[in-house]
Amino acid sequence: MVLPRRNGEKLCSPFRSINVSIILIWTMVIYIVLDISLHLLSINHEQIRSEVKKDSLESKPDMKALASGEFEESESSESDDAVPSEKSCNTIEDYIDVKEGQAREAEDPWNQLKWCLPPAACRVNGHLIERAKRRVFTDLGANSFHTSIAWFATRYPVDFTEVYGFETARNLLTLPPGWDENSNWIDPGIHGWRKIRSRAGMVPSWFVRRVKTINKAAGVKDTGFSVNVTRFIKEELKLQPEDAVIVKIDIEGAEWPILYEWLKDPAMPKIVDELFVELHYFHPDNNWGSVKQWSREDATKMLAELRFKGFYAHYWD
Ligand SMILES: *[C@@H]1O[C@H](CO)[C@@H](O)[C@H](O)[C@H]1NC(C)=O
Repeated sequence: MVLPRRNGEKLCSPFRSINVSIILIWTMVIYIVLDISLHLLSINHEQIRSEVKKDSLESKPDMKALASGEFEESESSESDDAVPSEKSCNTIEDYIDVKEGQAREAEDPWNQLKWCLPPAACRVNGHLIERAKRRVFTDLGANSFHTSIAWFATRYPVDFTEVYGFETARNLLTLPPGWDENSNWIDPGIHGWRKIRSRAGMVPSWFVRRVKTINKAAGVKDTGFSVNVTRFIKEELKLQPEDAVIVKIDIEGAEWPILYEWLKDPAMPKIVDELFVELHYFHPDNNWGSVKQWSREDATKMLAELRFKGFYAHYWD
């Protein structure tokens, strides 16, 4: 089939109608359309800008709380009171996060590692851990290497520069060889991939070299059997507020005298950045018969009082 030649083609050609006045009219139309759309666009931007501004103003108290907790040094607890907050943080009771018979909330900042969630409503001392030159993990009642040292090594978001493991049972806390980061690869095969040889349940050897084991009990006195941990931290390790110091305590009831000392010692919450403690108390729910003198209420109160005094304290079990 032959398509008939369209006679109207010439009429539709744009070149046919070109003359100066038409060009002028089109230029003006394009100019007006462009001007209106640019104007609308800028209104839109202005709106977004003011919304962002409003948002950041509203979140300012949080930012300030964060900054005063994370960037300032220990003296910040007084200035924290200036942060507008619904919650009163003036008594030990204000720091009690759970009532008897009430379940702990998984999302409660007190239940999380300090660096994972927004800060708790009542502030404690602290600073950004990765800025510290000394990042020290002190494990009182370390048990075997994989019980908590390996747990902290693999889960705590920092590479500790020093680790001290207190464990009275001599053969319990033995250090594994650790894997060598540089040779822990399977050679590239025909696929050209490099694969990690082993990692599960292990830590690198550089980390193992940073661990010191102390086969003595953690306590309040220096005896042949126990170490005064307050003296150990302050005088032997010479730890300062600017160091990042993480302490875990699980010593079957011996934590109480140490913690009572620390409540009376304003220097300790400045030195210790995060405290994980298993408080042993007597209750039908557990069978800790050796700690008859302390009740669950004592444990709840102790945790609250530690926080009141500025310790970022968690319950560890
Ligand atoms: C433990 O050490 C601290 C810090 O040196 C000291 O103040 C305290 O008196 C010591 N405790 C005992 C029972 O010696």
